[in-house]
Amino acid sequence: MSHLEGHSLITCLEAYSKSLKSCYASLEPGNPTLECFEEHVVTLIGDYVCDRLEDQSPFCILGVGSGDGGNDFAFLEMLSKIRRRKDNKFQLFQRVIEPDKQMFQAFRAKAEHLPESLKSWANIEFDLRSTTYQEYVEQKKEDDMKFDVVHFVHSLYYAGLEPALEHCYEKELGAKGIILCMIQSEDSAYVKYGRAFSAHGMIYNPGAYYSNRHVKDVAEKNGWKYVECSGETKTCDITAIFDESSREGNQLLDFLTHWLDVRVTATKDNLQKILNFWENESVDDGLGKKMVKMRMGAVIIFKGM
Ligand SMILES: C[S@@+](CC[C@H](N)C(=O)[O-])C[C@H]1O[C@@H](n2cnc3c(N)ncnc32)[C@H](O)[C@@H]1O
Repeated sequence: MSHLEGHSLITCLEAYSKSLKSCYASLEPGNPTLECFEEHVVTLIGDYVCDRLEDQSPFCILGVGSGDGGNDFAFLEMLSKIRRRKDNKFQLFQRVIEPDKQMFQAFRAKAEHLPESLKSWANIEFDLRSTTYQEYVEQKKEDDMKFDVVHFVHSLYYAGLEPALEHCYEKELGAKGIILCMIQSEDSAYVKYGRAFSAHGMIYNPGAYYSNRHVKDVAEKNGWKYVECSGETKTCDITAIFDESSREGNQLLDFLTHWLDVRVTATKDNLQKILNFWENESVDDGLGKKMVKMRMGAVIIFKGM
C-alpha cells in the first residue's frame, strides 16, 4: 500500500460524512433498507423475538454506527408489527454508538421528539454514546448489560467484521439473541470495485467492501445459525464523478473508492483506471445518465436457537 498516495476516507469523519451524503443523494428515491425490514426481516425474526418483546422487561437493542437514526427508528417501527399483544406498552432500551458529531446530534434530536407512531406502543429509553465501536469495546465492562438485538445497519464495514461479530455474539448478546447485519451483496458494483482494485493494491480500507459473503463465512466458521434475505437493489447515478469540476461528483468518487481526495491525490494512471472501472460498470439510462446497481441485503445470526 505504501506506493499509494493519500489516505483512507474514514480517517477524516467530516469528509466521510460529506461523501456519504453525496452517495445518498445519488441513489434513486426510496429506502431499500426500510423495504428490506418490512418485507423480509420482520418475517425472519418475528417468531424468534416475539416472546422476549412481550415479557415486560426491557427488550434491549445495541445499534452500531446508527447515523442520524432514520433506519434505527424504522427498525423500532418494524418491531411493532411483530407484537401480538396490543393491550400494554412495550419496554424498549436502545444503546446507540455513533462517532460522527453531526449524525449523533441528529439522532439525539429524533430520540427527543419521538413520533406518536412509536410513543403510542412503546416506552423507549436511549443510551446515546458519541464514540467509535472500537472505543466502546475497549471501555466495556465485564458485567455490562446484554442485548436481545445487535444491529449493524450499513456499518459493519467500520467495526472490523470478524472480531466485531465474534465480540457481539459472545459479549453483547444474552443467551438468546440476534445480530442483524444490513450489508452490500456480493454482486453490488461497490463490492465488485473492492474486489477488482484490491488485486491492484489500490484499496486503503478493505473493510469498506465487506459483503454478505464475509458475514456468512464468519457465521459458518463459528458454527452459528443464520439466515439471509435476497435484499433490495438500488441504482446510483454516478454521472457526476466524471466531471472533475463537480464537488458532489468528487465526494461521491471518494465514497466509491474510500479514498480521501482521490481525484487530487491519485496518480493520473490510477485515477484513469478507477474511472474506467466505473464507466464499464455503468449503464446509460437513456437520458445520458450513468447508472450502477448497488445491492444490499440482510444476514441475521441467531444465538441460542
Ligand atoms: C453508511 S452509514 C450508516 C448509518 C445508518 N446506520 C444508516 O443506515 O443510515 C455508516 C455509519 O457508521 C458510522 N461509523 C463510522 N466509523 C465508525 C466506527 N468506527 N464505529 C462506529 N460507527 C462508525 C458513520 O459515522 C456512519 O454514521
